[in-house]
Amino acid sequence: MVAAKAAALLDAFDSSFNVRKHHLELIREAFVNEGIRALETDSDEIPAMIPSYVNSLPTGNEKGTFISLDLGGTNCRVAAVQLLGDGKVEVLEVKSAVSGDFRLGKVESLFNWMAELVIELVTVKGRHLFSPSEVDGSETIYLGVTWSFPVNQTDINRGKILRMGKGFSLVNADGRDLVELFHEAFERKGMNARVSAIINDTVGTLVAHAYQNPLARIGVIIATGTNAAYIEKVDNIVKLPKNYRSKHAHESMVINSEIDIFGSPAYLPVTEYDVQLMAGSAQPNFQHYEKMMSGMYMGELTRLVITDFVDKGALFGGVHPGGFDVPYSFQTAFMSAIERDFTAGHSDSINLLTDNYEFLNKPTERDVEIIHHIVKTISTRSAHLAAATTSSLIQKQDLHRDDSTEPIVIGINGSVYEHYPFYEERLMAGFELIYPQNVCSRIKVELARDGGTVGAALVAMLCSSKNK
Ligand code: GLC
Repeated sequence: MVAAKAAALLDAFDSSFNVRKHHLELIREAFVNEGIRALETDSDEIPAMIPSYVNSLPTGNEKGTFISLDLGGTNCRVAAVQLLGDGKVEVLEVKSAVSGDFRLGKVESLFNWMAELVIELVTVKGRHLFSPSEVDGSETIYLGVTWSFPVNQTDINRGKILRMGKGFSLVNADGRDLVELFHEAFERKGMNARVSAIINDTVGTLVAHAYQNPLARIGVIIATGTNAAYIEKVDNIVKLPKNYRSKHAHESMVINSEIDIFGSPAYLPVTEYDVQLMAGSAQPNFQHYEKMMSGMYMGELTRLVITDFVDKGALFGGVHPGGFDVPYSFQTAFMSAIERDFTAGHSDSINLLTDNYEFLNKPTERDVEIIHHIVKTISTRSAHLAAATTSSLIQKQDLHRDDSTEPIVIGINGSVYEHYPFYEERLMAGFELIYPQNVCSRIKVELARDGGTVGAALVAMLCSSKNK
């Protein structure tokens, strides 16, 4: 009886979560069209398709030592990046976790702290890499900054902070110029330092990967959040100021798509669980696509599905485990652990469940099999959706055209892509649903490590002649 109930529920679950070929193609086309609209609309309300003002990619032969500062959701990394040519780099970094006080306090405190990390790198840890006049402050040091949050950029070294997200809520940050905030902090600390470039982490991923493989045309991050950068013709970026467009006509520019905010329930295959997750979220009706697939949300979707199965008597004998009602308590890392569990009787998965929740009766092997099926389906949907949205950036650049034999090189980075088992294979399977074999065989998805650090140093280098 219970078995029949579970089988029927799993059938219904599968049919709502498996996204079919025609639906993936529809998402791809809708994202292409949303992208075109965002390239035409200059507004803080639609912070998508953000120009990076990065007009060239590295060739792999660049050399020299450059400084980068990379602020992500968890850490700030300040690095001396030695570009050795031939696509090779050496990185010496000072890394520190962003404390709660800096996430929620005054914007000046966060920037003072980041300035101190730069001082530590230049005068202590990386002292041997800098000239005496850079160390004593008589010569200006230049750095590239990677900012993993949206910024409305108006030049390579100008841009307003739009919204922080990822647990940051700074006093007086929104609307402030990011580079001015750094320069004010450098002055307060008596430093002779300037920011020569600011980039999004996806722009860094693309630029850093291009240093290793000059054919790279797309940079993707699939982590807590998700996003992608690609190369666009300046002529198509209608929202750029007219004089900029005419001066740079026929050139290209890297675009931070902020693809995380694309998509609407009108065409995304949202399930009842996605609707529930959205309703319970701090920012309802925002980032529909990201909430269906990124690391921050997949675990929560799993928790909502399991709760429904328990309600209907198809899991845990119909008894809710203690603590399971806590939102976001079921992490995406639990899903990875369950998919990686090849132990006899699924003992690792059973221990993971009993370590984190209170059970009246220990979960059974069959419970774990059902949960395994659920997590596999949710992560497969994530990878297939990532393939559909990445393919919108392939289409946008016409990389799939039939008369080309060039590889379509995509640099990817992020905890989900790197650590979730079978994610890479599922992403490729998504491309196989969307494209014929002759296109799929040209798609090269390559791991792009250290995008934030190396990418910002490369951009600082690419524009150093312009700024120095
Ligand atoms: C979020 C941010 C975006 C960033 C992405 C990956 O979606 O809005 O700017 O690129 O996470 O870190």
